[in-house]
Parts: sequence; structure tokens; C-alpha cells
Amino acid sequence: MSRHDAKDFNAQNSTTSVMSESRATTVRDGVTTDARFQFGANWRSFLSELDEERITEAERSLQLLIARNRLDGSRFLDVGSGSGLSSLAARRLGAKVVSFDYDRQSVECTTILRDRFFPGDPNWRVDHGSILNRDYLGTLGCFDIVYSWGVLHHTGAMREAIRNAARLVVPGGLLAVALYRKTALCKFWALEKRWYCTASQRAQSFTRWIYLRLLRFAFALRRRDFSAYVARYRGKRGMDFIHDVHDWLGGYPYESITLADVEAELKKLGFESVHNNVHPPSLGLFGSGCDEYVYRRLAS
Ligand SMILES: C[S@@+](CC[C@H](N)C(=O)[O-])C[C@H]1O[C@@H](n2cnc3c(N)ncnc32)[C@H](O)[C@@H]1O
Repeated sequence: MSRHDAKDFNAQNSTTSVMSESRATTVRDGVTTDARFQFGANWRSFLSELDEERITEAERSLQLLIARNRLDGSRFLDVGSGSGLSSLAARRLGAKVVSFDYDRQSVECTTILRDRFFPGDPNWRVDHGSILNRDYLGTLGCFDIVYSWGVLHHTGAMREAIRNAARLVVPGGLLAVALYRKTALCKFWALEKRWYCTASQRAQSFTRWIYLRLLRFAFALRRRDFSAYVARYRGKRGMDFIHDVHDWLGGYPYESITLADVEAELKKLGFESVHNNVHPPSLGLFGSGCDEYVYRRLAS
């Protein structure tokens, strides 16, 4: 390990020391996997990096995705709210927001953001819940916009989660989701993630270090500027590169899907495509990456 690499490795260790806890799950709320990434611990660590620029970036990304500048009066459901950043963006754009997440620490993060930016606000509710728990979903009613970025493929039952989310959209309303795209290496990544999310903190840090070295090497081969890529990363919905690397390496359960399968699933449920950001097929050497889909529920 060179001095530069060792510095990276240590930096990874210290930045992510609070993110690495993992444990086997109990079966509840319809979630039935034997290992689960502690998303909320990662989001807790991310919150310390949150600033106005990231929030503005999250707002801009949401506006672009759903092609609206304001959401005044719209009922907005954030399924798997994570840090709560997208919920905050929606609330700042005027929506009445309900956020929920399966991970208790994610729920805490979203609650912290609500209490910091909208204390005592009756128009932003934060729940602990699962998109696989039909009893809980039955208490929510329907929404003008159901938003779920990078969540449904982490439930252990992606297709059921897609269907459940779709049922919460009012006729004429929007379903906006981001899902991992199917790549040639998806099976490898599923095994890697399952291992990573039960590995020790030290093993996780070392894996991140190797991943980053390889990624840097791939950038160099293509004569791309790795540092500039990392510096620009907050432009991706206000996210943070290192936290996203940890999330990518450990985000388990893990599934992926093609455009054709999303299309077939949602057409059956009476939705039409509004637009999507779908990337061309790839090997998925450094990850699958998410494709974004926006669908409208046809008036029945
Ligand atoms: C990769 S994070 C994405 C968070 C957020 N949507 C974002 O875009 O930053 C995935 C989130 O989905 C949540 N999640 C996983 N399974 C879930 C379920 N069954 N119901 C609700 N949320 C779930 C995780 O706890 C985690 O906070």
C-alpha cells in the first residue's frame, strides 16, 4: 500500500466508522431476508455533510425528474426516505409530504431534517413502515406523487414493492422511481453485497479501498479526471461520493430490472410512461447504476 493509498484507506475508515454496522435481520413487515445493510447508519453519517448547496441540488433534481417547478398542495409520498433529503426538497417545493422507511435510523434521520427545517409542521409526517406491509400502506391513502429513489430493489421483493407503490398513486398521479438496471455482473454484485453487509468494519474499509483504487485506475485508462468526478458528485441529487460507495458495496437485499420489465409491470397496473432516464446496457463492472422512471396512472 503506498502512502497515498494508506491515506485513502484511513480516510475511508474514519469517514465511515459510523456507517459500517450490519446485522442479520429478523423477519418482519413482510421483509424476509437473512442479511440487511444498515442504510440508516450510512444516512446518519451523511447528515453531517448536508448543507444548503446539497439541498438546492436535491430540489433541482426532483424538479427535473417530475418536470414541475412547484408542488404546492400536491400529496407527496417518499417511500424509503433514507436521509430525508428528497422529502425535505419536496416540502420546500410546497408539497404535503409523508415519508417512511423500514430502517429505524433512516426514520430518525428524516425526523431530524423535518424538525430542523420544518419544526411542528403538520404537512410533513414521518413514519416507520415498509412498502411490503399492506396493513401499514392501507392507512396512508393515495398520493399525487409517489416517489421512491433507489429503494424498491433493496426490499427483497422488488416486484411486489413496485406494485404496492403503484397502488398508492391517485388516477392521473405520478409514480417516480429509480431502480438498479440489469447488467451482466448483477449476480456477482449480489454475492459481494451479501458478504459486505455482514463483514467486519475493517473488511468493509479494505473493500472500499480496493474498489476506489480500481475505479481510479479505470478513470486513468479512459483519460478521465477522477478528482473532478468526485468533486462534481454532489450534483447527483445532493449525494456524497463516499457514502454512495459504501451504499453501493453493501446495499443488500439487491435486485435489478430492465426497462422492458418495468414497462410490462406498470402497463398491467394501468400506467403510461411519462419519461425515463435509462442508460444503455453495460457490464456493470463498478456497479449497476440506477435508471429513473416516471409513469402516470391512467384515469380509470
Ligand atoms: C439507497 S437508500 C435510498 C434512500 C433515499 N430514497 C435516497 O434517494 O437517498 C434505500 C432506503 O430504502 C429503505 N428501505 C429498504 N427496504 C425498505 C422497505 N421494505 N420499505 C421502506 N423502505 C425500505 C432503506 O432503509 C434505505 O433507507
